[in-house]
Amino acid sequence: MNRNIEKIFGYLSIHLSPKIFKHSYNVAVLAGELALRYSIDILKARSDGILHDCAKGMTDKELINFFKRRHKGFKYYQAIIRFSPHLLHSFAGEIIAKENLKIKDCDILNAIKNHTQGRENMSVLEK
Ligand SMILES: [Fe+2]
Repeated sequence: MNRNIEKIFGYLSIHLSPKIFKHSYNVAVLAGELALRYSIDILKARSDGILHDCAKGMTDKELINFFKRRHKGFKYYQAIIRFSPHLLHSFAGEIIAKENLKIKDCDILNAIKNHTQGRENMSVLEK
């Protein structure tokens, strides 16, 4: 799946509930099957599947504080905070994947970031 897999599973097993961990694992399996069907990179799809909810263990308050501490772009996130703070877990997930789990692949990071709200012209991996 990824050379970092032990670190990723270690992080997820600490920061996610067993239910969300199982969900992420199942999404990784399904993403791999879909990648085969749509002829995209299976390892990227599985990596995105296992990582997409890596910040879902954070409470709304933790997510809001996470972005307040970063300042950059906080105005953008305020609209999401008003609507549904928990949607921030995809944006926090991208940052955690990059900074804590050392994921460098932009396709995987974009798929994590956009899995709650989507965006225009999503890649097949993001979908
Ligand atoms: Fe999610």
